[in-house]
Formats: sequence, structure tokens, C-alpha cells
Amino acid sequence: MKNIAKTDHEINPILSSRWSPRAFDSSKAINDKDINSLFEAARWAPSAFNAQPWNFVYGKKGDENFDKIYNVMMEGNQVWAKNASLLILVSGNSMHNGKENPTYLYDCGSATAHLSVEASSRGIDVHQMTGFFADKASEVFNLAEDVKPITIIAAGYGTNPDILPEYLAKREVAPRVRKKQEEFVNKF
Ligand SMILES: Cc1cc2nc3c(=O)[nH]c(=O)nc-3n(C[C@H](O)[C@H](O)[C@H](O)COP(=O)(O)O)c2cc1C
Repeated sequence: MKNIAKTDHEINPILSSRWSPRAFDSSKAINDKDINSLFEAARWAPSAFNAQPWNFVYGKKGDENFDKIYNVMMEGNQVWAKNASLLILVSGNSMHNGKENPTYLYDCGSATAHLSVEASSRGIDVHQMTGFFADKASEVFNLAEDVKPITIIAAGYGTNPDILPEYLAKREVAPRVRKKQEEFVNKF
């Protein structure tokens, strides 16, 4: 199922159909060609100094990296993310040329947005989460001190919310809400 955004103005359907489901079809895998395209989209994101501070570690369901990423998630996310086809840990290098890079988080968000849009164009759903233990992730993947874990992305193919516990199934079909443009766009 898709919970498509009811937009006030026309936007590209690839964007309005992007959403963050929790009901993933555990029987489906994402093929390697699509996986390469997701990271290729991230690769071509813009970044300050062209520093490209992003770093991705991924695991496919059933492999060791999947389990390692799954094990650093908070329980509330594990409940649904176990059915994803792919788990991706997004980290960012906070330093550039020996100095703190003030926009590394921004740039990693931009790369992740590219990845999300590419996924949407391929009918793949992604759900980002900060509900995980960053210190554990650093330890498990032996990340350098300057490389900071930022988010985990669950990716796969959405399915019927019935597979979820009731409290989550309800959220899956609830209307998606956003602030009005007037609240955050200042025209004068
Ligand atoms: C940086 C970030 C962290 C998030 N963390 C979580 C999380 O830990 N658990 C969760 O269920 N959803 C998480 N979300 C998903 C948001 O709740 C979701 O994007 C938001 O409610 C808007 O819904 P939509 O993506 O379907 O439009 C996160 C999203 C982002 C971008």
C-alpha cells in the first residue's frame, strides 16, 4: 500500500508517493542493480567543498551486516524494521581538511534525500530512523572517531499494514500531515 501525500500544489508524483511505511514485505529482496542506483543517486548529491562526507554500510536481509545494523536499533523500530529487505547505516565525516565541517549533517541529509527519491522512482520504500544507539553502531562497525553515525534507513517494498501490531497498523493508514506553506515560507 501507498499513503500518497495530499499536496496543496502540484509536485512530482515521485515525491508525493515517497512515504515512510512500517509494513514491509519480508519475502521481497531489492536487486543489486537497484541497490547500486540508490547509492549512485546519493553519490551525486551536492555538498559543501564537494567534501562528500557521507558513508553507507548496508546489509541485505539474512546477511551479517543486516543483523549488525538491526541489533543497534531501538526496540520500537526493530518491531517493524525486521521485515525490511535492506538496512543502511548512514554516517558522516564531521571533519574536512583538518577542520570541523559545519555542514556535514546537512550534506548527508541531502545524499539521503537523493537516495530516497531514487528509491521512490523505483517503487522502493525507505524509512529513515534516528531511533538507534549511535555509540553501539560506532563500535560494531569500528568507525573512525570523526565519522558519526546519523541515521539508519530501512528499505523494501511496502505491504498490507495487517502484518503490524494494531498500534502501528493504525499509524500506517492515518492521513499524512504537514504544516501549511504559510507557516514556513515568508514571502515579504
Ligand atoms: C532523520 C529522521 C529520523 C527519523 N526517525 C524515526 C524513527 O526513529 N522511527 C520511526 O518510526 N520513524 C522515524 N522517522 C520517520 C518520520 O517519522 C517520518 O518521516 C515523518 O513522520 C513524516 O512521514 P513521511 O516520511 O511518511 O512523510 C524519521 C525520519 C527522519 C527524516
